[in-house]
Amino acid sequence: MRVPFLDLTAQYNEVKPEIDAAVAEIFATSAYVLGKWNKKLEADIALMHGVKHAIAVNSGTDALRIMMQASGIGPGDEVITTAFTFVATVETIVQIGAVPVFVDIEEDTFNIDPTKIEAAITPKTKAIMPIHLFGQLVNVKEVKRIADKHGLLVMEDAAQAICNHHEGVYAGNWGHAAGLSFYVTKNLGAAGDGGMILTNDDEIARRSISLRIHGMGRERYYYDEIGYTSRMAELQAAVLAIKLQKLEQWNSRRAELAEKYLYGWNGQPIGLPVTSAGNNNTWHQFTVRHPRRDSLMAHLKSREIDSGIYYPVPLHHHEPYRSFTKATTSLPVTEKVSLECLSLPIHQHLTDDQAQFVVSSVSEFLALP
Ligand SMILES: Cc1ncc(COP(=O)(O)O)c(C=O)c1O
Repeated sequence: MRVPFLDLTAQYNEVKPEIDAAVAEIFATSAYVLGKWNKKLEADIALMHGVKHAIAVNSGTDALRIMMQASGIGPGDEVITTAFTFVATVETIVQIGAVPVFVDIEEDTFNIDPTKIEAAITPKTKAIMPIHLFGQLVNVKEVKRIADKHGLLVMEDAAQAICNHHEGVYAGNWGHAAGLSFYVTKNLGAAGDGGMILTNDDEIARRSISLRIHGMGRERYYYDEIGYTSRMAELQAAVLAIKLQKLEQWNSRRAELAEKYLYGWNGQPIGLPVTSAGNNNTWHQFTVRHPRRDSLMAHLKSREIDSGIYYPVPLHHHEPYRSFTKATTSLPVTEKVSLECLSLPIHQHLTDDQAQFVVSSVSEFLALP
């Protein structure tokens, strides 16, 4: 039975009439940039996350870069983060002239290990950038406690964390700012690229709004600082605002599928993802760990089940980022997890039969001698 990793056509078909109408209206009115759909998307997400400001930008990468710059992070500053993430986290730190400092992750949540943070703090440390990976928040209370103790900024990489909260407090409220991604494959995905900055800080919001349009803050064609071109297209904002209405329902289906997997492999020799107490999990990925990961992947492929490796090589091993690894850096959990992790299909359009087939196919592999 074919089990695809994603089904973007099914997703579109669920909201086709609304999207088609919005696209037709945008063309008919030629309202292509920063119009009513941008405003609606910003207002709806600000409400959902309970934040004061939501600023739509062109990508999650831009959200991270702009919010760090708007927070005053720059050349020479050190930013503590992890190497088990998508490259954009670290790329943007380097692009604003700052220096990424890697600490290790927790094996069962894949998120930053807060017990490793304090040893990495130096007089140059300006911020911590924790990544809320795969659909749940990091240990936000502990990260915030450490940041407050040392007077550091917290920049949440919330690219995978729309709808995520800890004890009801959503991403964007734990740090000084958070960056969401709406890349196609995210739980809320655009028809291309999109991102958003969330913050309760008026000054970070003011500077972010200016930076997204060339630093043109006060008045048209007057520039306060050197900025970017990072407006979100109205077409993308419309697609996202329409899909947002479905997001909670879609996330519930992901949670049902996760339950089936967790139940199906309970007690079997495979590392299952753990949701930390107080967190909700939106299951952006369902990632297991197995020492023979590549064989498991090949076995699933032979059954026509897609799977993916997020992330096969930690960032400190890639040529452009090697120089940021200090001689004392030791990331044993990151190294191990990169060799063992495998993400399984968990999108909302998976049928019960397909999920059951994934359960039995993985179990079949686990029973092999
Ligand atoms: C953890 C993480 N950070 C940053 C990004 C960058 O987002 P985008 O692809 O929208 O630029 C992504 C998304 O791909 C991501 O998963």
